[in-house]
Amino acid sequence: MTTDILTSVQDRILTITFNRPDKKNAITAAMYAAMADAMEDANENDDVRAILFNANGDAFTAGNDLIDFRDNPPRGPETGVARFLRQLVLSRKPLVAAVNGVAVGVGFTMLLHCDIVYMSETAQLQAPFVDLALVPEASSSLLLPARIGQAKAAEIFMLGKRVSAAEADLMGIASQVFPAGDLAAAAQKAAVALSKKAPESLRQTKQLMRGDLDVLSKRMLEESELFGERLKSPELVEAVMAFLQKREPDFG
Ligand code: COA
Repeated sequence: MTTDILTSVQDRILTITFNRPDKKNAITAAMYAAMADAMEDANENDDVRAILFNANGDAFTAGNDLIDFRDNPPRGPETGVARFLRQLVLSRKPLVAAVNGVAVGVGFTMLLHCDIVYMSETAQLQAPFVDLALVPEASSSLLLPARIGQAKAAEIFMLGKRVSAAEADLMGIASQVFPAGDLAAAAQKAAVALSKKAPESLRQTKQLMRGDLDVLSKRMLEESELFGERLKSPELVEAVMAFLQKREPDFG
């Protein structure tokens, strides 16, 4: 059992906390599995009425652990990451995120599945998939252009443009932005409010707002297939080496 993810159910809220602050909460295979387990259990549990994601330390999450990408690339539909991504699409519970700092890769794309996204003024989003010689995942190739438009999404995905909390607010990625000291209480308040709403009404409203989940799931599979191929590419190895050696990648 990893302690890099903390989970607790209190007052009918499942809280999932990234707890690997020394590595900016970069997500390992064990962490994905812990999150997937908790979300799968919650989905079947009528006593859980909302799920809150938050983080310890100064980052939300630096996304997938890059050393895992290189040395332990996930394979198949039953890996922790695949199960976690499926839960983002299929969870019937309202999802709340408290984004306290940098949110990279899946740390960003998971927010497109969250119903309420609260960000601190200091938070920042990054989706450097192309910079890592990868492709976008978590249905984000569909969801981000749909949310903010093709031209803005291309800057983020293709150029690796970083998005400040204020920009995320304007783009409709953040529900609201708070001073850093107010974020945790605001997110908790939203989760508590959701936990007291009529659960079936909430579930149906979420379903109506999300649209056709089969379309999202199909796109996720397409992305995963390409992503898996990219993980085996020499370009990915160079990108990860460059990150670890703190230098610019050289793709030739
Ligand atoms: N995987 C593995 N380790 C990571 C990591 C990741 N995704 N992100 C950060 N770390 C580690 C660093 O290697 C460093 O470890 P060290 O102290 O042993 O050297 C530690 O976390 C702190 O990171 P650092 O880069 O010094 O912090 P920072 O505040 O300067 O920058 C980030 C934070 C998140 C902007 C930067 O670490 C980063 O860009 N990480 C990579 C993000 C990424 O590409 N994720 C994959 C997306 S698909």
